[in-house]
Amino acid sequence: MDRNRKSQFLDVKFPDDFFWGTATASHQIEGNNTNNDWWDGEKKGLPRSGQACDSYNRYEEDFNLAKKMHNNAHRFSIEWSRIEPKEGKFDEKEIEHYRKIVYALRLRGLEPFVTLHHFTIPIWLAKKGGWTNKNISRYFERYVKFVAERIGKDVKFWATINEPNVVTSIGYIAGFWPPFRKKDFSGCILSLLNMIKAHKHAYKVLHKYNSHAQVGIDMHIAYYEPGSKMFGFGSSVLADIAKYYSHYWFLDKIKEFQDFLGINYYRHFQVSIMGIHEGRGKISDFEWEIYPRGIYKIAKEAFQRYRKPIYILENGIADADDDQRPDFIKSHLMWLQRAISEGVDIKGYFHWSLLDNYEWAEGFTKRFGLVEVDFNSFKRTVRHSGKVYAKICKNNGFNSKKTIEAD
Ligand code: GCO
Repeated sequence: MDRNRKSQFLDVKFPDDFFWGTATASHQIEGNNTNNDWWDGEKKGLPRSGQACDSYNRYEEDFNLAKKMHNNAHRFSIEWSRIEPKEGKFDEKEIEHYRKIVYALRLRGLEPFVTLHHFTIPIWLAKKGGWTNKNISRYFERYVKFVAERIGKDVKFWATINEPNVVTSIGYIAGFWPPFRKKDFSGCILSLLNMIKAHKHAYKVLHKYNSHAQVGIDMHIAYYEPGSKMFGFGSSVLADIAKYYSHYWFLDKIKEFQDFLGINYYRHFQVSIMGIHEGRGKISDFEWEIYPRGIYKIAKEAFQRYRKPIYILENGIADADDDQRPDFIKSHLMWLQRAISEGVDIKGYFHWSLLDNYEWAEGFTKRFGLVEVDFNSFKRTVRHSGKVYAKICKNNGFNSKKTIEAD
């Protein structure tokens, strides 16, 4: 097979059936999502998303790029507010749009990985208290049922909720994302408990409509490392507490309802009695530390804890100059490969993101794309890193001792 032709020269090799892809989210790329709570928030001070990447209309062009990058999978999200713009009123035309997307992916040999909730909810639901509404898990179930009835058989891989820990802590504690609550700890916990219920309902629905479905959640897992040698034991207890509350508490509660573990890896923190601090290495345009070893540590630990296949559903870097991204990709993949060689069942890697896009409270200022987007003309230009990633995907690995020459 072409993909493994050169594999004997590669020292960083991946399993034969490994999924290579990129990840996106509806509100960040589609444009004109006028019926969700973010759009509403944009009228109250959040940066405007406008037409975003206009991917609602240009998805075929986007998937051609992914195919050219030798990807064999792609992650995108369905926008709940398009499917159910008014309470209980479902839009057949919009689900048809997503069915076409699934078809367009399959036509190009890209396995669809579908997220059902990526940060945004319909405005009608936000007005009823959003994730704190006592019936929200049933509303979510009804939405998922509508989707599953129509495209459930065409999609195998589902992530129900993207980063429950991030959307609730920024929305209810930090307060700079919808619903803009500050220090509302009970709202945060209630939302998380409702997300747990919603995930379980969705898990059952998706399996009912497709017995081959693989359903998981997509968790933001940062690497919390004990920070201080001086109080070594204390720091490691504190790091364990941080891990537990940031992600394991939630994952433990749904462990019987997960076919795989979806992980988003971006951050590294040092934990000690002095608090939780960003690691001190090189940083990205977002001023997040670049810490490739963390992907190995978190994947290993999560696998030991849950023994489920892992998909890295996001990992990426804000890097407008694209001078750090090629090394970022290679170094993270080297650590990932090391975890695989030590027995961790990692089945896929999705780079965040295919395109520069709308980065939430940062608007269009942070550029995460393997492909550069001109937000006036919507012209897409593949970056050098995109070509490097393409070569890695094509060969199913790379030679760590050599610079990767783009084709
Ligand atoms: C995330 C989000 C993305 C972000 C990305 C970069 O899951 O946090 O899925 O929406 O754009 O993480 O910050």
